[in-house]
Amino acid sequence: MGDLRFSETVSGKIADRVLVVSIDNPPVNATSLSVRAGLGAALDHAAALDAVRGIVITGAGKTFVGGADIKEFDKPPEAPFLPDVYLRIEQFSKPAVAAVNGAALGGGCELALACHGRVAAPAASFGLPEVKLGIVPGAGGTQRLPRLVGIAAAAEMIGTGRALKAGEALGIGLIDRITGEGLVAEACVLVASMADGELRRSGALAVKPVSDAEIDAVGAKILARARGQAAPAEALRLVKAAMTLPFNDGLAEERRTFLRLRESQEAAALRYVFFAERAVGKVEGLEKTTPRNTRCVGVVGTGLMGSGIAVSALNAGFQVIGVEQSEEGATKGYGRIAGILDKAVQSGRLDPAGRDERLGRLTVASDLSALRDADLVIEAVFDDFDIKAGLFRRLDEVVRADAILATNTSYLDPDTIAAATRHPERVVGLHFFSPANIMRLVEVVNCARTETEVLATALAFAKRLGKLPIVCGVTEGFVGNRVFSAYRREAEFMVEEGALPHEVDQAMEAFGFPMGLFAVCDMAGLEIAWARRKRQASTRDPNARYVEIADRLCEAGRFGQKSGRGWYAYPEARRTVDPDVTALVVAERRRKGIKPRSFTGNEIVTRVLTAMAAEGRALLSEGIATRASDIDLVMINGYGFPAHRGGPMFTAGGVDT
Ligand code: 3HC
Repeated sequence: MGDLRFSETVSGKIADRVLVVSIDNPPVNATSLSVRAGLGAALDHAAALDAVRGIVITGAGKTFVGGADIKEFDKPPEAPFLPDVYLRIEQFSKPAVAAVNGAALGGGCELALACHGRVAAPAASFGLPEVKLGIVPGAGGTQRLPRLVGIAAAAEMIGTGRALKAGEALGIGLIDRITGEGLVAEACVLVASMADGELRRSGALAVKPVSDAEIDAVGAKILARARGQAAPAEALRLVKAAMTLPFNDGLAEERRTFLRLRESQEAAALRYVFFAERAVGKVEGLEKTTPRNTRCVGVVGTGLMGSGIAVSALNAGFQVIGVEQSEEGATKGYGRIAGILDKAVQSGRLDPAGRDERLGRLTVASDLSALRDADLVIEAVFDDFDIKAGLFRRLDEVVRADAILATNTSYLDPDTIAAATRHPERVVGLHFFSPANIMRLVEVVNCARTETEVLATALAFAKRLGKLPIVCGVTEGFVGNRVFSAYRREAEFMVEEGALPHEVDQAMEAFGFPMGLFAVCDMAGLEIAWARRKRQASTRDPNARYVEIADRLCEAGRFGQKSGRGWYAYPEARRTVDPDVTALVVAERRRKGIKPRSFTGNEIVTRVLTAMAAEGRALLSEGIATRASDIDLVMINGYGFPAHRGGPMFTAGGVDT
């Protein structure tokens, strides 16, 4: 931008006696070495010129500064260090104002905090998401933010990593003003207004006292979400330290903690997950394919899954046509979708105008002919082959020639469903996870005959929904359910060999899963898997090891939480170890002549992870999954695998990070 160049990525120009410094380090203006050096040179320049009365710092493009350069985290830090550059800004003799044009995250938010004033565009956002990378802010965030917004608000922001929109940031005092137009000019005005007064240095502000109850309440919320992750507790400790430590000591303690956590396995895993998420959209063979324009989405079946998909599509701005089998069904379907939006309004996540605008884009019909204008139709009907194949045949007659048909089947073979149509090349799988309006994961299934443009459109559609789409090939259960089945199989083997269901669950929960396997099975219900096992019985390899315990539970009417009994009992809806299940397990072991032995938690976890990774490797060698990191993302986002462990393939090693 400027006439003055301070480094490869930092330039400036002088306007109205203010040095306007621009950071231009695509893609997100991360504070790489040349940015740090450039900011230092800009300060030198501004200090040396009497004609310059202050500086404004802004970002080029749509981001202000996306944080420290995460790619540098695997190398030793190189001077000038970020906290030193920011301390210089804070201590600068002339006013420094941040003109925050977009996302100010991590080191970007800390840059704004180190300035003496902050002006934001309406599109700006502010966050310290370091805990999501297994670290804490390392350039003053934990010490400056509490001084500006108070201990409780700072602890919430840093401990959860949640980003705030500009309006909320203004509300808590993180920024001084929002301006719709002329951001840099407004920041220059703020510089001018500060030129003769005492500068408001964040580090010099007093920390407002806070009650123990208030800080404990925030702390409990943060720690409950942490599930064995170290960084959130460290973040909380550092924010609290701002109350007792002098500013410089607080900064030093923060930096020590940051450098220590940066080396941790947790941080390595979360960095890997960060880059894995950015890689998912890059699918070999699709680079040059332009997705079709998608505007109107049909959803056949508006039950639990279909209504969630419809809400997702409405939230993303699509016109949505739901279809049910009868007028009554259509009315109920509309009610279910409206009900989800109403809940969002009640919880404050959506305003009533937003709900009404969404409902204005929704119709639910009782006839498939309503789909004649749809660009993409997703079926979310009962997972039965004849029902789905019949529906696809009829859809084939109704929809436009260039419309795409997507199946949400979990276990059926989408190739066989596609073969029921005249145009299998326009069929693709879109396997959502329930509740579909909440869960980020979508498996985009590239069927044997799916056309490249159809796959690209399905992928682009899922991305527009804000989902994490993983492309995979056709196999029973796709990537997630195959790896999950390996987990279940191994867990059942261990129960047969001597571990009890709750011991397996405790070990996996201690590892970081929100719920152990058997508790999850109880929650989902045991009868569908039982029916599938019965269907597969005639084709099962008679030499493969098979554990009958789950069948025995179902035979005893124990179908899981819904029926009040499954792998556990549920008196007063509380999950409880059931001696009847223990007796049943013991009887099965005896029947098979198995002498039980005890298992340590570590052994349980190791066996589960080994089994999951082996299944993952099989998926890679069969070409069903293309990247080990895709498998990890599926397990993290669909099956509760703790992100800070990186996923089963990461824990097994051999993954490029
Ligand atoms: N460092 C290095 N690369 C980064 C980066 C970062 N902080 N943030 C994003 N990138 C890269 C991505 O890897 C991606 O690269 P690719 O094109 O080669 O795949 C590219 O930038 C674009 O990223 P997105 O696809 O995520 O772009 P979006 O426009 O959707 O989102 C964003 C932009 C909101 C800035 C998002 O990228 C983001 O959330 N980034 C991470 C923010 C973060 O965690 N910052 C904290 C870093 S740690 C820190 O600052 C420590 C400090 O306290 C000392």
